[in-house]
Amino acid sequence: MSILIQNIKSLIGIENKPKLLLKGKEMSKLNCIENAWLFIDKGKIAAFGNMQDTSALDKIKTDDKIKIIKAKGKLVFPSFCDSHTHLVYAGSREIEYIDKIKGLSYEEIAKRGGGILNSAARLHKASEDELVESAMERLNEIISFGTGAVEIKSGYGLTTEDELKMLRVIKKLKAISPLTIKATFLGAHAVPAVYKGKQKEYVELIINEMLPLVASEDLADYIDVFCDKGFFTEDETEILLMAGMKYGLRAKIHANELDYSNGIQVGVKYNALSVDHLEYTGDREIACLLDSETMPTLLPGAAFFLGMPYAPVRKMIAAGLPVAMASDFNPGSSPSGNMQFILSMGCIKYRMLPEEAINATTINSAYAMGVSEELGSIAVGKTANVFITKAIPNYEFMPYSYGSNKVEAVILNGKLIK
Ligand code: NIG
Ligand code: FE
Repeated sequence: MSILIQNIKSLIGIENKPKLLLKGKEMSKLNCIENAWLFIDKGKIAAFGNMQDTSALDKIKTDDKIKIIKAKGKLVFPSFCDSHTHLVYAGSREIEYIDKIKGLSYEEIAKRGGGILNSAARLHKASEDELVESAMERLNEIISFGTGAVEIKSGYGLTTEDELKMLRVIKKLKAISPLTIKATFLGAHAVPAVYKGKQKEYVELIINEMLPLVASEDLADYIDVFCDKGFFTEDETEILLMAGMKYGLRAKIHANELDYSNGIQVGVKYNALSVDHLEYTGDREIACLLDSETMPTLLPGAAFFLGMPYAPVRKMIAAGLPVAMASDFNPGSSPSGNMQFILSMGCIKYRMLPEEAINATTINSAYAMGVSEELGSIAVGKTANVFITKAIPNYEFMPYSYGSNKVEAVILNGKLIK
């Protein structure tokens, strides 16, 4: 079936010559067409233009199998790409949230057996079916907020068996959800309790036992390491990334969330697709990211929820870097996958312009999960993942009106699904 969306107040994020990412000043440019139409055919964006361009429109309308949607007063956006989540998990962690309110830090909670280890204990008890069911609910929720592609990490298993269980769940989600999904193997998320004091042995377990199995079942697209104070060192990260590369897994790593961990440097050295968090980013880190193919990815939800410092985004963009934003949806440090909220956070906390924030959550976050050739903008030939807003005045209203859902209808792979 094909879909023609007509009378669109503004069609956002169009590209005539698609780019894989936008850097520095380019990020403040958002191409739009006012009073537009968008034609979707065979799951792809087939054409778009201005309503006054009647000749092109008339040709399309001769086909009577077209579903016509009138979008008067409404905007059409490319769907958000959420390039960093941990949304397969068992059970929430609101009790730790109370500890946080009382003043305990993320690291203190982790040291007491809370944090990631708490989620690992719960995940161990959950069946694959239960995990699929709860993750599907989260996926359906983020679809309703406008997300069209999502990366999901393992990392709450921390044993060979449970890491494989998580990755098989993600594989199942790929098959049953209309979202575009990428899977990342994050065995090096935390050191499990039984390996306390034997971190080197756990790293060896990941390399010698987990990775070969993950690769033989083709369960992951990327590899991740939590390279930070109290978690994995720069040297361990290096060994893990090299091991992942042997299996063709490119890196997307957690870096510089809790301290200057050299995670950014090691990520760039191994040509990571993205380095994520980046609260601790100084001049050396910025210099290292320039001239790399690594996407600096910001997770403002985690900084907000944990009450941590915010990454120096204005400085990064001024230096000419691209930046992406993602939700980090997880039960410990960012229990929300709402990318509209992330847009608002980008503007409010990082002082990004709405155009920059929209580019950071669409084309640049598509790059950060390796899908910007197919997704992240309105361009002919790209997969038709778009959303239609409610009647709103302009695109600036999206980040401004934080907290409410402005998405009215969702089209994924060319099908109207909400
Ligand atoms: O990205 N920083 C490490 N990992 C997650 C948190 C996971 C958790 O607390 O469960 C993050 O914030
Ligand atoms: Fe994370």
